[in-house]
Amino acid sequence: MPTLLDSPAVVAGLELPNRLVMAPMTRFRSPGGVPTGEVADYYRRRAENGIGLIITEGTLVGHPTASHETTVPRMTAGAAETGWRQVTDAVHAAGGHIAAQLWHLGSERRPVDGVEAWTPSGAGGHAMTTAEIDVIVEAFAEAARVAARAGFDAVEIHAAHGYLLDEFLWPETNHRTDAFGGSPARRAAFPAEVIRAVRGELPVIVRFSQFKERDHGARIASSAGELEQILTVLADAGADVFHASQRRFWEPAFPGSPRNLAGWAHELTGRPTITVGSVALTRDVTQMSRLLAGLAHGEFDLVALGRILLGNPDWARLLTENRLAEVRDFEKSHEDTYH
Ligand SMILES: Cc1cc2nc3c(=O)[nH]c(=O)nc-3n(C[C@H](O)[C@H](O)[C@H](O)COP(=O)(O)O)c2cc1C
Repeated sequence: MPTLLDSPAVVAGLELPNRLVMAPMTRFRSPGGVPTGEVADYYRRRAENGIGLIITEGTLVGHPTASHETTVPRMTAGAAETGWRQVTDAVHAAGGHIAAQLWHLGSERRPVDGVEAWTPSGAGGHAMTTAEIDVIVEAFAEAARVAARAGFDAVEIHAAHGYLLDEFLWPETNHRTDAFGGSPARRAAFPAEVIRAVRGELPVIVRFSQFKERDHGARIASSAGELEQILTVLADAGADVFHASQRRFWEPAFPGSPRNLAGWAHELTGRPTITVGSVALTRDVTQMSRLLAGLAHGEFDLVALGRILLGNPDWARLLTENRLAEVRDFEKSHEDTYH
């Protein structure tokens, strides 16, 4: 796997030693929304074992509607910012880079504490007014300022998987008749405002997907042409990198071309892309040639690994040292471990 491990890359101004990225994974280990020393150790371990760029678990922007969760970390001033400073210092000391994923759950926020979920058109909660859209744009901007102060190298805007920004992108959940609904380009207007508000603080990665956690067959774009409309708006707003989330990276995004979703994002915008989805979940590396071909052809620049890194913080090192036999194949129980 020399291309994955040995070829440095400069992406959005970040000088990365290799093409490996840790995918964002929520771990519920930050009581009161504050990351602890244990969280710093967890991320440091991946950095010191050769992951070039870490993307944190989703971190909550500072608005009561962002989430009902109490152990998901926040990206807010005060104790959380101090906690994140420990994390970024640990990762940098180990030679790594780290981006903060910024998250608002949209309709997935449970209506506890008397706070209703905010959504584009009212399905599962309250339909946001334009003034409320401005409030959330500002919450993302503030979170990016906190991330910059806390020492992050980049932010990732979570616009995937059925959460708030993705609910604007998806026609099933966005029925608005104002400037934030309608054509694919208009559905992208709110995520674009968020991008515009955070850029300037740090490089901006934008994570998007066709599928939703609750609907694997969902699509924000039914054709490459529709995807182009969406991604052009996001690229013009200042997206430096697209992180195209798929459940299986080798699946073509549209009929008629073997390109995956990251490949299409690169083709349509010219921006660097990250691919992800069931990369090397086991020692069976059958799909690896597809991955290396995609890198070689410039279809994607970086490759994110999620679940395999839960049980193998040292995955990259084992590969570099030709010790693939020692990799622990992913098992569901690894999601309950934290080391
Ligand atoms: C435990 C767990 C938590 C996750 N949390 C997030 C998250 O906070 N934000 C996000 O964008 N994706 C999240 N994901 C999706 C992963 O980033 C990744 O896209 C997915 O696991 C597929 O990659 P993999 O097959 O290499 O695991 C999560 C996945 C897992 C398994």
